[in-house]
Amino acid sequence: MGKSSQHRENRHHRRKEGGFTGQIGFVMAAAGSAVGVGNLWRFPYLAAKDGGGLFIVVYLVLALTFGFTLLTSDIAIGRRTQMNSIYAYGAMSPRWKFLGILTFLVPAIIMTYYAVIGGWITRYIVVYLTGAGRAAAEDSYFTDFITDPKQSVLYAALFMVLTAWIVYNGVEKGIEKCSTVLMPVLLVMVIAIAIFALTIRNTDAAGVTRTGLQGLVVYLKPDLSGLTLSRFMQILLDAMSQIFFSLSVSMGIMITYGSYIQKDVDLNKSIHQIEYIDSAVALLAGTMIIPSIYAFEGIEGMKAGPSLMFVSLPKVFASMHGIGGIVGFVFFLMAGFAALTSCVSVLETIAANCMEILHTGRRATTLALTGIYTAASIIVALGYSLFYVELPLPNGSIGQILDLMDYISNSFMMPFISLLSAILIGWVVGPDWIVEEVEYGGRRFGLKGLYRFMIRYVVPVIMFILFIQSTGILG
Ligand code: PHE
Repeated sequence: MGKSSQHRENRHHRRKEGGFTGQIGFVMAAAGSAVGVGNLWRFPYLAAKDGGGLFIVVYLVLALTFGFTLLTSDIAIGRRTQMNSIYAYGAMSPRWKFLGILTFLVPAIIMTYYAVIGGWITRYIVVYLTGAGRAAAEDSYFTDFITDPKQSVLYAALFMVLTAWIVYNGVEKGIEKCSTVLMPVLLVMVIAIAIFALTIRNTDAAGVTRTGLQGLVVYLKPDLSGLTLSRFMQILLDAMSQIFFSLSVSMGIMITYGSYIQKDVDLNKSIHQIEYIDSAVALLAGTMIIPSIYAFEGIEGMKAGPSLMFVSLPKVFASMHGIGGIVGFVFFLMAGFAALTSCVSVLETIAANCMEILHTGRRATTLALTGIYTAASIIVALGYSLFYVELPLPNGSIGQILDLMDYISNSFMMPFISLLSAILIGWVVGPDWIVEEVEYGGRRFGLKGLYRFMIRYVVPVIMFILFIQSTGILG
């Protein structure tokens, strides 16, 4: 069978199986992928670290320029080629087939640890469900849990199987169905907890009273004190890498999802909707987390960094007395939904690529991948106990297996892939290759001037800087 007839056959296969039913299904699934722990935990933590309102403004500007450019590229490539990353780049230009392989590696690596994080969240859902939230507020609780081989493996495997079940059921009956139910529920929950956080009033042991509303001011007010050029650059880089991660771009996920969209869907509108949902959840997560932490632990509490979600927040919930158990449960349930729809998009992308290369069916492919990734998740989960290592990373930190996987995929490979794909689109096939797809069927692409400029000039330069920075050469 020739290449092109092979691809026609794939397309045929896919249509038979069905893609997204329409714009809503697609937007919910893509937003489900985008909205994840990055929005709930990483965004608030970066905002607290990088000067509150200043970070927020920088982030939003970049989301509407960079984020929009990267997201448009991925989605349009998927819909135009009707392929997954592994063949899509080669279809754009035969010499660029290697970029497809490189892109495929990103979800293949992320999948080794995403279910482990999903497992941690699941553990906390169970803790709050069984009314043991107070125990989770102990300092050592999180460390005790992740260093317990049995527990951490059990929850990672549980999350993995749940993810696999959704992918196994297909694009329409699995992914779309689960996202269109979970995403609206998630939105309602994050709004509810954010409003609740603003009503908090707490007097600490020293007799100082702090309120959620004061915390909101801390969150939103741009803090320009001590701002230097190099500090501003750092904020810019933090915001940029957050956008990548948060929108799930440059890892083939949005290419795969794009390939499931029907031709009559308005890509431009859908892309804006995905961006709005993703940014809104990030902003609301900050509105929920920063005022709560501020009221109970003061400004110092925000310095917790990555441990914010699993260590600081349970303490805040415990200080809320009666209602804390419920708020904690809702919070972790919401985080669980967010992680699940993201994890599904990673597994789906790997499965779709494998089906395309190996010509296997969805069910067999999913089952085989479940076996492989359950094993991988177990190894990564054991990276805090049996397989404990201390790996020095190029950014100067020391990490375990999970951190290494995260560093390779997110910090190192994603900017590199974005750099190459911007060159491919901007200078080899030309931006109009994308513009034509967005405008297909006479649709309007309002920001196409911005798109052309960004993809040719701005994205390559910035991605080059990010990539160099990730290698640690600059440090
Ligand atoms: N976009 C997700 C988030 O914001 C992270 C993610 C990255 C999910 C890659 C899947 C794949 O948390």
